Amino acid sequence: MEVLKDRLTRSMMEYFGQDERLIQHALRVTRYAEDSLRYEESADGDGVIAAAILHDIGIPEAERKHGSSAAEYQELEGPPIARELMRQEGLPERMIEEVCQIIAHHHTPGVVDTVNFEVVYRADVKVNLEDKALLA
Ligand SMILES: [Fe+2]
Repeated sequence: MEVLKDRLTRSMMEYFGQDERLIQHALRVTRYAEDSLRYEESADGDGVIAAAILHDIGIPEAERKHGSSAAEYQELEGPPIARELMRQEGLPERMIEEVCQIIAHHHTPGVVDTVNFEVVYRADVKVNLEDKALLA
C-alpha cells in the first residue's frame, strides 16, 4: 500500500505541477481517508488511497476546457486522466474502474454506494469545511 501511495502521490504532484493548493488539498484528503481506514474494516485501503490522491485530478482540465472547475466538469474530466495515471502505474483494471467511479461522483453522494466512496467523500468534505472555516 505504501509503494502505491508514493507512486500515485508523485504522479499527482507532477500532474498538478506548480499548483501547490491542489497538491496540499489532495495530501490532506488522503491523510483523513487513511485515518478513517483504521475504523472501516470493510474498506479497501488501496482503492481508497488511490481515489483520495486523484479525486480532484480533473480540475485543471475542467478549467482549461470549460473555464470552470464546477463539480460536473471535474467529475467529467477527472476519470480519463486518473485512468491514464493509474494505468501507467500498472494498477489492476478492476481497481482503476472503481476509483474512476468514485472520482466521477465525488461531489454527488448517493450514486456510488460503497464504503470506499463514503471514506473518500467524507475526507474531502472535512477538508473543504476546514478551509471554509479558515476563510470565514
Ligand atoms: Fe477535493
